[in-house]
Amino acid sequence: MTAPDRAPLAGPPGPDLDPEALRRRAAQTLLAARDRTHGLTSCVDDHDLTAQHSPLMSPLVWDLAHIGNQEEQWLLRAVGGQDALRPEIDSVYDAFEHPRAERPALPLLPPAEARGYVADVRGRVLEVLERVPLDGRRLVAAGFAFGMVAQHEQQHDETMLITHQLRRGPAALTAPEPPDTSDGPLPPEVLVPGGPFTMGTSTEPWALDNERPAHRREVAAFHIDTTPVSNGAYARFVEDGGYRDPRWWAPAGWDHVREHGLYAPLFWRRDGAGGWVRRRFGVTEEVPAHEPVLHVSWYEADAYARWTGRRLPTEAEWEKAARYDPATGLSRRYPWGDADPAPEHANLGQRHLRPARVGSYPRGASALGVRQLIGDVWEWTASDFLPYPGFAAFPYREYSDVFFGDAYKVLRGGSFAVDPVACRGTFRNWDLPVRRQIFSGFRTARDAAPGAA
Ligand code: AVJ
Ligand code: FE
Repeated sequence: MTAPDRAPLAGPPGPDLDPEALRRRAAQTLLAARDRTHGLTSCVDDHDLTAQHSPLMSPLVWDLAHIGNQEEQWLLRAVGGQDALRPEIDSVYDAFEHPRAERPALPLLPPAEARGYVADVRGRVLEVLERVPLDGRRLVAAGFAFGMVAQHEQQHDETMLITHQLRRGPAALTAPEPPDTSDGPLPPEVLVPGGPFTMGTSTEPWALDNERPAHRREVAAFHIDTTPVSNGAYARFVEDGGYRDPRWWAPAGWDHVREHGLYAPLFWRRDGAGGWVRRRFGVTEEVPAHEPVLHVSWYEADAYARWTGRRLPTEAEWEKAARYDPATGLSRRYPWGDADPAPEHANLGQRHLRPARVGSYPRGASALGVRQLIGDVWEWTASDFLPYPGFAAFPYREYSDVFFGDAYKVLRGGSFAVDPVACRGTFRNWDLPVRRQIFSGFRTARDAAPGAA
């Protein structure tokens, strides 16, 4: 699949779109998601679509029909008031009834039927979109349900890209290399001044429930890495014996490292000459020293940070570094401002199948000069996934509410695999601290000396 610049990067709607422009935006956003789903499911054969490539993942054909089933439930039934097209399949595609490991054994729709089903749903959805009023009911106000469903499809498109990365065998996907937009030496860290800032949003039309509401947060002054941690820097931790020294590891992380014999990021192997190679989408290549480290768990990120004498940023620190504009005291939608993401801002949308060199995207820098907060790699934060003060589940508890607590850690910023519609300064992702098949990296932080800023 090559997807360069085929569709413009369509983010969420601005607040001022008229109903017709909003309908067009919703339709375009759904179409862009379907293009990507098609690319990810048409580049392999039926065997690869139905196989389980990892117990951590669903068969691709499950994701495909689950995308259609969620779209049917929200846009045809909840918004359109229609009856179920195939009520007997709801339970097969219910993510809560069936954990990923057991999905291959379910009576899944075979690939041709799954394709027919999602196309049937989509045809009917576009008819609903033509005539439903996009105001009044909260579910449809500003096209929310359509945006939510497009984000859901794009999130599964990232999940399917992870499945492709885990799949054995020759490459099925290709994409151009990210441009090198790095512009010379940068200060290693940036000072973020102390004081309150606005976290979360109450105005972003397609923001999901866990990003709401906007609220004030006090954040003490801290320093944060200007860029994500690179492979070269991480390799020094490995070479220093980092994986053999319990001093750096949270106790549960140390147990996990020993039990599973972990020695480096997922997909890394020794090259025989003292260096490292990795497998990336079916190709073995030298680990690029200047690229953000990828496929590390929260435990690995936390251990690296401790080895450097630093720590992971909290979620509030990450968001303040990304959104706070000291000139106005306001929080921006994105690090670079309020404009929708464009290719010069960030490496998003599976335009490239890898992160860009650290120090890239000067046009995407935050007001304070922090780089690559959006795109490239998801960034682990120190924080548990918790609701904001005033949180209310909407429209369904199973999106966020049932995951709140200390089991999951928050990731921020989005990876090269995330679509702009599912990525913004307030967007929250979460996963278990052992997970590293995801497109995860991190940056580090430290407290500022008292009196700094
Ligand atoms: C937000 C990525 C953790 O994949 O489990 C997809 C997104 N929720 N379908 C996940 C999601 C329901 C979710 N994450
Ligand atoms: Fe889902």
